[in-house]
Amino acid sequence: MTLVLNTLESSDCSEQIKKILAGKDEEIEIINTADLKITHCMGCNMCWLKTPGVCAIKDDYEIILQKIVKAENLWVVTDTKFGFVDYRGKRVLDRIVPMLNMYIEFRDGWERHQLRYHPLNFGVIYKGNGNRELLEKWSIRVARNMAGKSLGVIALDAPQTNANGNVAKTAMGTATETATETAAPHPQHIVIFNGSPRIKKNSNTNKIIQAFTEGLESAGITHELYSLSNHTEWDEARDAFMTNDNIIIALPLFVECLPSLLLEFLSTLPTERKQPAKLSFILHSGFDEGHQLRLGEKFLQTLPSQLGCTCGGVLVKGGSFLLRMRDNNYIKKVTDKILASYTKMGHSFALNGNFSTPEARKFTGPEKNPKIGVLLFNLIFKRIVKKNFERIANEWGCTRPLNDKPYLTQQR
Ligand SMILES: Cc1cc2nc3c(=O)[nH]c(=O)nc-3n(C[C@H](O)[C@H](O)[C@H](O)COP(=O)(O)O)c2cc1C
Repeated sequence: MTLVLNTLESSDCSEQIKKILAGKDEEIEIINTADLKITHCMGCNMCWLKTPGVCAIKDDYEIILQKIVKAENLWVVTDTKFGFVDYRGKRVLDRIVPMLNMYIEFRDGWERHQLRYHPLNFGVIYKGNGNRELLEKWSIRVARNMAGKSLGVIALDAPQTNANGNVAKTAMGTATETATETAAPHPQHIVIFNGSPRIKKNSNTNKIIQAFTEGLESAGITHELYSLSNHTEWDEARDAFMTNDNIIIALPLFVECLPSLLLEFLSTLPTERKQPAKLSFILHSGFDEGHQLRLGEKFLQTLPSQLGCTCGGVLVKGGSFLLRMRDNNYIKKVTDKILASYTKMGHSFALNGNFSTPEARKFTGPEKNPKIGVLLFNLIFKRIVKKNFERIANEWGCTRPLNDKPYLTQQR
C-alpha cells in the first residue's frame, strides 16, 4: 500500500498526485493533512520509553501512524520554504519516530534505531522553489533510517522562472547558495535561540547552551536566551532576531534536518532586516557520527543569506542524547566532559566571532565509528545500552516491551 500525506494548505491536488503516482502502486491512499489537527513532535520520548510505539500527543496523527504501519511506501506532498520542505511537510515526518524503537544497532554501517515494524520506502513531491539536490539527499537519508529506499523527489509544478528563464531567487539570496562564512569582529552581546521543541528543563540543547555561555561569559560576553518550545516567547524572540547583530541558533537534529517547530519559527520572520547580522549555529544530534549531521549542516549554511544575515558557521557535534540521562553517575561523568568542551567552544567563539576556526571544525570528532568500535558495540555495549534503556523505561513507569508493536496487535 502506498500512503500519501498531502500537507499542502490550499489546493486539493489529489488528481494531480494520482496522475504522478499512476502505475507505481495499485493501492494508493491520499490523506489531506490540512483537514487534520497535527502538532509538532515535542521530543518527549514517551513513544520510546513510556508507551512504546504510541505518541503522547493525542491529535489526528495517530490515525496516520496506524496507516503508515500498513504501508510499504510513504510519500509526503509538501510546499517548500528556504529550499527545503516547509514546516508542515517536516512536521508529519518528525512525528514518525514511533515507527522506530529506542534500541540502537548498526545497520548498513551506521548507527540506527531498530525498526518497530517493517522497512518503509520514502519519497517527496514538492511545490515551489525546492533545492532538488538537498531534497534528494534528505529523502535518501530518511528512507535509510527506515531501512527502505528513496522513492525519489518529484516537483509538482515547474520551477518558477523569471523573465530570463532563470530559476527565481527566494526573498533573500537563493535556497541553493551556501553562504561564505564571515570573519566578524568580536561580539559584545549575543542573542541565542534554543530551536528544540523539547521543554527547556528537559532539553539537551539547553544544557549545551548553558555550557557554551559559561565560555562566553568567561570572555566578558553577555547573552540573552529564547526557547522556541515556549510559544509565548515567540513575539519577543522575533523582535530580538530582527534587532540584534549577533545571533546563534542552537538546535538538535530532528529526522535528518531541522525540527519542524524551528522551521515554523523561521518562516514567520520578516524577510527584510534593517541592519545586517551574523547568524551562527550549534547543531547537535543523538548519534555521535559526524557524518549524520552533514546534510543538516549544509542546509543551515544556506539559511543566513535567505534571512538577510551573514554566516558565522555551524558548530557540529553528535552524541548528545546522553545529556538527558545525567542523573546516572557514570553518564554524568561522561557528559561533564562533553559540556566542558562546549564551554571551551564558547570561549573560542567569544575570541574569534565565528565557528570557522580549525578548532571548531575538529570539534565534530570522527565522521564514522571505526570497525573496532562497531565490533565492541555488537559484542559488549549493545546489551549494556539495551539494559540501561530498559531501566529508564522502568523508572518512567513503562509496562510494555520497548519493541512493542501496538498497532499490529490491534489489527490482529
Ligand atoms: C523527533 C526526533 C527526531 C530525531 N532525529 C534524529 C536524527 O535524525 N539523527 C540523530 O542523530 N538524532 C536525532 N534525534 C535525537 C536528538 O537530536 C537528540 O536527542 C538531541 O540531544 C535532542 O536535543 P533536545 O533535548 O534539546 O531536543 C531525534 C530526536 C527526536 C525527538
